[in-house]
Amino acid sequence: MTSPLVLNTVGDLRRAVAAWRAKGERIALVPTMGALHAGHVSLVEAARRSCERVFVSIFVNPTQFAPNEDFGAYPRTFEADVAKLASVGADGVFAPGVKDMYPEGFCTTVSLSGPAAAGLEDRFRPAHFAGVATVVSKLLIQAGPDLAIFGEKDWQQLAVIRRAARDLDLPVEIAGGPTIREADGLAMSSRNVYLSPEERATAPLLHRTMTACAARIRAGEGIAAAMAEGRAAIEAGGFTLDYLETRDAASLAPVADDARADLRMLVAARIGRTRLIDNIAV
Ligand code: PAF
Repeated sequence: MTSPLVLNTVGDLRRAVAAWRAKGERIALVPTMGALHAGHVSLVEAARRSCERVFVSIFVNPTQFAPNEDFGAYPRTFEADVAKLASVGADGVFAPGVKDMYPEGFCTTVSLSGPAAAGLEDRFRPAHFAGVATVVSKLLIQAGPDLAIFGEKDWQQLAVIRRAARDLDLPVEIAGGPTIREADGLAMSSRNVYLSPEERATAPLLHRTMTACAARIRAGEGIAAAMAEGRAAIEAGGFTLDYLETRDAASLAPVADDARADLRMLVAARIGRTRLIDNIAV
């Protein structure tokens, strides 16, 4: 088991990537905010299947958190993350400081309409996707990978990143990796550590409800009725619901009540101090 190269500056990252590229190796980047779990590991493994070199970035990006959100409390487990990455054969970790990513005078933002303004996450976190698109664009320009992989759990984020990469002509393939779930259906997330034991026991209700709603839609029930039943079940279970919606999977545009092709159901709900998001294919 070899430890990955840990790099903190853009210059060092570019030199490492250039050396691999000179040998004709394909390079993948897996952007993360650390607190790595099996979902992240699956992204590294997927990257490894199509690229000789896999870099993982670990950067808790302040610009994607609103002032009232959990930037300060976000779990930071760098040593354990690097050990996990060593065990799955990642070649490098890029861990820049906030000053490296946002130097004095920084004033450029990548902001999108389209999927970033679908009325889902953006309704509750209005500045979030500009922060994500800016930092991911920077990481892609800094590392210049052939492939970048993101978890499908953040479905709207993935749509935003695909759109930004296409619009900015970034020469990189953007791929999504399937959501990895606990045995009871809860989507793995670095934020699951915030859940109390009682909240953790309730949390799988989100996935259970979406699965039941998707089955009813596939059996012919109208989307609006299935969503209304799903919302009521989630609220009755003790969550404060932000949204439960079924949308076009690629554009995230609203769909007709009887639409049946390429649908994605997305949910966000709060329990205690934890906000959980999830999504499934319909
Ligand atoms: O999904 C995440 O962990 C973050 O939003 C990302 C893509 C690494 C950008 O900071």
